[in-house]
Formats: sequence, structure tokens, C-alpha cells
Amino acid sequence: MSAADIAFDPHDPRFASEGVPFDKLARIRCEAPVFRTPAGAWYLSRFDDVAAALTDVDTFRADLGPITGLPGGVETIPAEQHYLSEIEEPRHKAIRRLLTAAMSSARLRQIEPLIAAECHRLIDAMLASRPANLHDDYAMAIPAFAMARIMALDEAAAQAFMVWSWDGTLMQRPATPGVPPGGPASHIFFRDYLAQQRAMATPSNDLMALMLAAEVEGAPLSDAEIITQLHFLIQAGVHTTRSLLAHLVNRLVQDAALWATLQADRALVPTFVEESLRRDSPVQRTTRRCVRETNIRGITLPAGAWVEMGIGSANHDEAVFDEGRDFRLDRAEPRRHLAFGAGSHVCPGAALARMEAQVAVTALLDRLERMEPVAGATYPPLPGSLGHQPIPAILVAR
Ligand code: HEM
Repeated sequence: MSAADIAFDPHDPRFASEGVPFDKLARIRCEAPVFRTPAGAWYLSRFDDVAAALTDVDTFRADLGPITGLPGGVETIPAEQHYLSEIEEPRHKAIRRLLTAAMSSARLRQIEPLIAAECHRLIDAMLASRPANLHDDYAMAIPAFAMARIMALDEAAAQAFMVWSWDGTLMQRPATPGVPPGGPASHIFFRDYLAQQRAMATPSNDLMALMLAAEVEGAPLSDAEIITQLHFLIQAGVHTTRSLLAHLVNRLVQDAALWATLQADRALVPTFVEESLRRDSPVQRTTRRCVRETNIRGITLPAGAWVEMGIGSANHDEAVFDEGRDFRLDRAEPRRHLAFGAGSHVCPGAALARMEAQVAVTALLDRLERMEPVAGATYPPLPGSLGHQPIPAILVAR
């Protein structure tokens, strides 16, 4: 199928500042659901196709090569630099199990009060500034704080995670052309951290204890592999959750009726978070490579073809979501979306991200009478504001 007159590039950097063109995606779902991108990849746009392809790991292999400066894909670099999502079974499952154990519900219950306290501290600071910037001073700070706590690291580490999540550091691997021999700054940081953890009688946190004790396919994890996965956790967990929080606060500033609804019924906060994940998905697309020829809706995708999983489009699919463009708190199945992926690579940080979002929204509702938009200020576009734009607001304390 082709739709020659639809100009759409899933990697268009303008989406971050101008919003995702959901009108175009609606046309693509209808007229060319398996859409050829300008770079020659295939963009899957419908919910069922994206869900099926994400689940079919024997045909579609995750490959973040192109976004880390490796257009030839990850098979061109040493395996120790493969991110978790790029590792094949059974090794993937064994390493993934360590991460999910380190982010168990018991562990999340322990860090929830710390995250709540940090949210209140950030709100205190924002109340002292007029206007506050809910992006830099709230949405951006919380996920970095949470990841630092998971790793038993301090405020300086959280600051570094925040900076790396937007300055390009996390899009680099040691093999990325132009990166110095020691690897990106994050690798240098985690190399020191790992040496400190190895020197301790007992590692300072569950994640490191599990990683250092692990035997995977009969051998311990190498330093290089552990550093790669720590780097990947920050890459996967900070920018994404920042985006979710940015969408949530942006909407709350601009929609006084929604604020009032949530104030009146706090039980709706989890639904608010889910609808934001669906409607303004922080991860709009993720890349796969066909490892064998396959056919989708009559189109043959040869082995080696690049495939874009259109998560953002799938989450608007009119075949699944009634008025998918609308933001609604009354959807029958609020968690029915692909914002966290699907199948064996589904996001292991989903519970943490959901918890951070619910705690962050609840803290604002608890502390504030309202959040007023600043007259004359420009706000990020609500459909898919994925970038780092300020979200100014006047916070009115209760
Ligand atoms: C709102 C926040 C988040 C969103 C929207 C999100 C989304 C996703 C998606 C869509 C995937 C699947 C990617 C693919 O299949 O190609 C994924 C995987 C992953 N996410 Fe998240 N994520 C979020 C937060 C987090 C957090 C907080 C962490 C870590 C604490 C995390 C760690 C990971 C990891 C390690 C993977 C790879 C899993 C695997 O391949 O088995 N994510 N995430």
C-alpha cells in the first residue's frame, strides 16, 4: 500500500515542539496502515498489527542501533553493548528477571514515601517562585530522583541522570562513532560506581546485589554488560517518565475542569495517568528489524527490513478506541493501551512510572488550590508534547 501524498516521518524532530500530527496518522491507519517511511522503513500504525509485532520476537528484533548512531544495527557491535531490549532469549529473560526483582512491589512500597517527600520538597520550592516551571522543576526532577534511589545514589547522581537524559549522552554507546575510548560520561560514572559496589562487603542496593550475584548461562555478568544495563535503565526510565509527567502537568495547568474533577474524586488519578499514557504516549514509536521475511496486510517485509512500531498511532486506533483523539476519564478499560509495549519486552519499569505519576499528581492536588496558566505564555502542544519546553504556571497554595 502507498499513500504518496501523505508526508510522514516517524523520526521528525519537529514533533517534540509542534506535537504529533495525529490527523495524518488517522489517514495512514485508514489508507496505508503499513506505511513506507522516507527512510525506507515500514511504519505499523494499527493497534492489532503493533501488538502482534511487538509480541512476535521471533520475527521482529528490537534494535536501537539507528538512534545510537549505528545505522547498521546492533549486530555490528560487541554483544556486551547490547541493551536489554536487544538481547535475545534465553539471556534476555535471565537479565530482565534481575531488574524486575529489583523493582518489585515491595521495593516500590519502600521508595514511594521518598518520592512523595521529594514531590513536596519540589512544590515548596516552586511555591517560592512566580511563575514556577513545572517541566524543569517538577516533571524532570522526579524520575531522575527515583532512579537514583533505586541505585542508592545521591542528589548529584540524580542531577547527572537529568542532564544525560537530554544532552545526548544516553544515546551514545562506546561503539557509537566519535565517542571517546572510555565510553560516554554515563559509562565512566557507572564504571566507578560498579567498582565501589564490588569493593563493599554487601552491595548498597537490591539492583546491584542481584546483578553482582547473578549467574547467567553459567557465568557472572561482565563489568561491561552491567555498565551497559545501568546506562540503559537511565535511558529507558528517565526521559520517558519525564515525558509522562510533563503531559500530566501540562494538561492540569490548561484544563481547570479536569483539575476540579480530580480534586473532587482522587480515585480518578490512576485513570488520569492511564488516559495520558494512551492519548499522549511518551514513547511514540520503537524500532524493530525483521529477522525473517514476513507479510503484513499483503505487504512483504523482507529479512533485514526496518520496522517502526507506531505505538502512538496504535493508541489512537479508532478500531479499538472510541473517539481516540479525546481525553476521557470514563474509558471502560483504561489500561488497554500499548504505551509500555507488549509481550516479553513489555516495560519492566511500568509500575514504577505509574507510581511516580500518581504520587506526583496527588502531591499537587494535596498542596494546591489551583495551578493557573501564565497569561501570554506559550504551552507545549497537548498532542504528544515530548520535548523539553517550559510549562510555566502560577501555583496557588491551599
Ligand atoms: C512513562 C514511562 C515509561 C514508558 C512510557 C516506557 C515505555 C517502554 C516501552 C514502550 C518499552 C518497550 C520497548 C520495545 O519493546 O521496544 C519499554 C521497555 C523498557 N523499559 Fe520502559 N517505559 C517507561 C518507564 C520506564 C522506567 C521507569 C524504567 C526503569 C526503571 C524502564 C525500563 C525499561 C526497560 C529496561 C525496558 C526494556 C525491557 C525489555 O526489553 O525486556 N521504563 N518501556
